[in-house]
Amino acid sequence: MTRLVAATPEHIAEAAAILKRGGLVAFPTETVYGLGANALDGQAVARVYEAKGRPAFNPLIVHVPSARDAALHVHMNEDAQILADKFWPGPLTLILPRRKKSSVSDLAAAGLDTLAVRVPLHPVAQALLKESGIPLVAPSANASGKLSPTTPAHVADSLDDRVDMILAAGACPVGLESTVLDLSVGRPVILRPGAVTTEELSEALNVDVLAGEGSGIIKSPGQLLKHYAPETRLRLNAIDLEPGEALLAFGPIRFMGIRGGGAASSLPGRMIRNLSESGDLHEAAANLFAMLKHLDRPEHKAIAVMSIPETGLGVAINDRLRRAAHSP
Ligand code: TXA
Ligand code: MG
Repeated sequence: MTRLVAATPEHIAEAAAILKRGGLVAFPTETVYGLGANALDGQAVARVYEAKGRPAFNPLIVHVPSARDAALHVHMNEDAQILADKFWPGPLTLILPRRKKSSVSDLAAAGLDTLAVRVPLHPVAQALLKESGIPLVAPSANASGKLSPTTPAHVADSLDDRVDMILAAGACPVGLESTVLDLSVGRPVILRPGAVTTEELSEALNVDVLAGEGSGIIKSPGQLLKHYAPETRLRLNAIDLEPGEALLAFGPIRFMGIRGGGAASSLPGRMIRNLSESGDLHEAAANLFAMLKHLDRPEHKAIAVMSIPETGLGVAINDRLRRAAHSP
């Protein structure tokens, strides 16, 4: 049974400790309840995807207590600063170029070079962010494909025992997810409409902000979503290596050979990464994007990827691998 507790200062302190240890805490924001985890900890982020049963790694929103904290992780351009002054804290998420030195897990951003950031208004969300001192990823606290939860009871119904603690503070005042605005492209585009409207954003920026959904310009926000793809070709479900290929392994590799002779285990270290030697899917998910990036070098003929079981988080890992393999 999940602990569902009132969001008192004591419970917020306890929740912060759970998050710092890599656990999951559902907490209220002004929009909907979020399923929070430490954005700096890849394995904690992997647990979020697993708890939600998300079939793929959609990038997550990184929640921070202030615009100054956001600037540690993304490049706040002029438009972002204007909107932050006007709408933060509040139900607006900004997509911005990610800072190279940001230590947010690659899995949180699903390998993209942008990051979604938001400063929530809800006092419990603010208190939790300040108490924990870490940025929190927080997708809506529901199982994938279900409605976003606006009460603690919705969270308990949807996630049951897949979360370590639910901080309860009644119904969410907005009740609809935040507006997602992409400021990383030439012209601002709304990827998801929300409480902050197109008109308000256009007025603040003094340009016509493109409305994604329903505008006829962009058919579905999902189509806008870029996917991470390496330059180097991927060869999936590899059982052996061709000469010149790098290896993205999963589990033990001692029996893997190189065609024409040789063992995979004797390749130079720069040509091999192992998602998880022990075959742990959380560890593999947390390592996936960073390891793909590491092996993505012109001198590699291809990246051979060992097969990942199509169970649990493996489904999401395989989804991302297939997309990465099929990109031009
Ligand atoms: O109101 C909210 O935003 C709630 C509360 C808990 O803060 N959170 C929420 O998160 O709705 P989630 O994960 O359910 O939705 C995040 C949305 C998704 O549509 C995702 O594709 C998009 O933001 N997103 C995140 N990072 C992105 C990126 N780098 N580029 C494009 N879209 C991104
Ligand atoms: Mg959601």
